[in-house]
Amino acid sequence: TGHTALDYGFVNTAATKSAITFIDGDAGILRYRGYPIEQLAKNSTYLEVAWLLIYGELPTSSQLEEFDNNIRRHTLLHEDLKRFFSALPHTAHPMSVLSSAVSALSTYYENQSDPHNPEHVELNTIRMLAKLPVIAAYAHKKSKGQAFLYPDNSLSFVDNFLKLNFGVLSEPYEVNPVMSRALERLLILHEDHEQNASTSTVRLVGSTGANQFSSISAGISALYGPLHGGANEAVLDMLRQIRESGESVQRFVERVKSKEDGVKLMGFGHRVYKNYDPRARLVKESADEVLTELGVSDPLLDLAKELEEIALHDDYFVERRLYPNVDFYTGVIYKAMGFPTRMFTVLFAIGRLPGWLAQWREAVSDPQTKIGRPQQLYIGAPRRDYPGAV
Ligand code: CMC
Repeated sequence: TGHTALDYGFVNTAATKSAITFIDGDAGILRYRGYPIEQLAKNSTYLEVAWLLIYGELPTSSQLEEFDNNIRRHTLLHEDLKRFFSALPHTAHPMSVLSSAVSALSTYYENQSDPHNPEHVELNTIRMLAKLPVIAAYAHKKSKGQAFLYPDNSLSFVDNFLKLNFGVLSEPYEVNPVMSRALERLLILHEDHEQNASTSTVRLVGSTGANQFSSISAGISALYGPLHGGANEAVLDMLRQIRESGESVQRFVERVKSKEDGVKLMGFGHRVYKNYDPRARLVKESADEVLTELGVSDPLLDLAKELEEIALHDDYFVERRLYPNVDFYTGVIYKAMGFPTRMFTVLFAIGRLPGWLAQWREAVSDPQTKIGRPQQLYIGAPRRDYPGAV
């Protein structure tokens, strides 16, 4: 059109204004609603941060209590929806299970899903915060062939989630406080990250007037890819492969640099951070602490540290300003907690859910939001005639 600028990957184009998350990628700064991520990770809880992201301010203690109670009251899944899991193979990737189940969840609330009805929006916000962790845990149980547990609403959000994942029917489950606090921290670190691919997807789908469930389900699908949330799973696969093949770390790094076989150093690099990802710094600190406290020693953590050390001093990575991102060390912690590798990205999704919900609401309530509709530069065939048409 003459006005269209070509911008692969939206490197230079802002699609929205937002008051939720601030990132300074050169300085390695991340803040939710103005609060530094370091302070939130240390002092807050997943649900408190969720409230902050969604409503803009920290909740009072009674607001937080009501929010928490409300979520506890909505954790049950419809018994029919539980049968959905039996239609899938036990080998199903839990990310596919999660996105499909969230889409399926919408069918139970079809006449309560008007994106412009504040009561519906509120209710579905609570429903998703309450039910997605249950779906996630059932995807995990399904992959193991174990029975689903009912949510235990006497437990906190994170403890209930741990019990649903690791509890076994007929045996009491004792929550490990080290694991609980570590998971809470990791979830907080993932709660929002401004206009990343999955959040932009949620906004784009939301811009068509689609309901919250469809928008979040689309976000989950976007997160699945290995360049985005799927990187945490890919990092662990990479570490395992290096260890099992006996290849030296130096040799692996050389292969990455040669770009010959398309191998990347997974968990490194970021579109926005050209400095150490502040989340990765916190996760790395936690990794040592948590593994020690859980009494786990994992050679893959040493391997990850060795990889980081080599990469941070190598010209290839220095020149391109590639640092570890949030996904580099999380997998080692999830593994120590007992999560299978294929659950790692699901944990990211549960972490990111409040951010998606907050961003969806911000977009839908912004009078300037229009249907998202990128331009293209056409490079195909000029006009031509169908055989026999003239
Ligand atoms: N290993 C090796 N080379 C890399 C890597 C990497 N992990 N990341 C970027 N590069 C190179 C890239 O090849 C390019 O080199 P050149 O200038 O010679 O062409 C240069 O660095 C710039 O990279 P880019 O691909 O233009 O950067 P981008 O902003 O388009 O991509 C990224 C960002 C995160 C997709 C990319 O760094 C990547 O693929 N990293 C590995 C996957 C990963 O860890 N993803 C998680 C991101 S953080 C959390 C999340 O969003 O889920």
